[in-house]
Amino acid sequence: MTATIRDVARHAGVSVATVSRVLTGSRTVSPELVERVNEAARALGYRHNAVARALRRGTTNTVGMIVPEIGNPFFPAIVEAVERHLGGTGRDLFLCDSQQDIAIERQRVLALVGRQVDGLIIVPVSATGSRACLEEVITRTPIVQVDRYVEDFPADWVGVDDELGIGAAVEHVASLGAKRVVFVSATLDSSSAVQRHVGFERAMRKLGLPLDEPQLLGTFRAEWGRVAAIKILTGASLPDAVVCGNDEIAVGVLGEFRRRQVRVPEDVLVTGFDDIRFAALADPPLTTIRQPHEQLAAECIRLLDARMADAGTPMQRIAIAPSLVVRESTGGTS
Ligand code: RIB
Repeated sequence: MTATIRDVARHAGVSVATVSRVLTGSRTVSPELVERVNEAARALGYRHNAVARALRRGTTNTVGMIVPEIGNPFFPAIVEAVERHLGGTGRDLFLCDSQQDIAIERQRVLALVGRQVDGLIIVPVSATGSRACLEEVITRTPIVQVDRYVEDFPADWVGVDDELGIGAAVEHVASLGAKRVVFVSATLDSSSAVQRHVGFERAMRKLGLPLDEPQLLGTFRAEWGRVAAIKILTGASLPDAVVCGNDEIAVGVLGEFRRRQVRVPEDVLVTGFDDIRFAALADPPLTTIRQPHEQLAAECIRLLDARMADAGTPMQRIAIAPSLVVRESTGGTS
């Protein structure tokens, strides 16, 4: 006959609750008790069945998270913070990468919801294209959007104020005398790209600066920064500054400028957005807009817990003010 959790408890001389805590990896059990319970389970051939436990309890103690590009250093920073916050409350994170593809994103959403995650945290690929798949599942699982959002979609969101952040970068280079500013960012599909573009143009107009320099829109990747730098260098003359939609792009711009002996900041100023770990290690160190990963993660979990506790709780949209970090790429010091 198959051993039960009660048999294991009796064999180990502990309560069923202790066996459950050991088998679910709770940190509140002494190493000695952990060994006794595991020894009893091995002796009886007991195998913990998380699915059966979930069906009994109506909760899997798991949260699903989907990001659009796990290779971009910004996303692992957020994921790591979310995973740590969840771990603190005994919950596991199941992570998926939607590869900037809304069809893959839909597959991952359905897979996670199909596995009964207790809630879903998502950075939507597209401000419009990601709506359909989320509409399919929003009545089945609590959803929180972090960083990016789907336009006019009834789900909580927390992210930075993108418009304010890119505006701070424009004001910074303008304060250093820049007038001709080239904007290099991603195409206007994600909410981040859209809001940063809005913020760039609004800040330029507010400062009375010309908007006739090229706006080079491609991807949030370093390769696009390299391509954009080549386009800039084939122009009639160097701009005073290059304001980039994220750090990866800025690192690509810096690399190509260096290869072509363009001096930063002497010849041209360069700014990024995110403050990924490599921003301070760039050559020269990158002036950027810092995204508060820990605060974003904490808010994201708070919103999810509130939604899981009460599906009817009022929806929240929280825009956190990012901060300007000045480094050598605009003449500062690290
Ligand atoms: O680097 C990728 C960008 O897209 C980040 O700035 C983040 O905000 C995400 O939306």
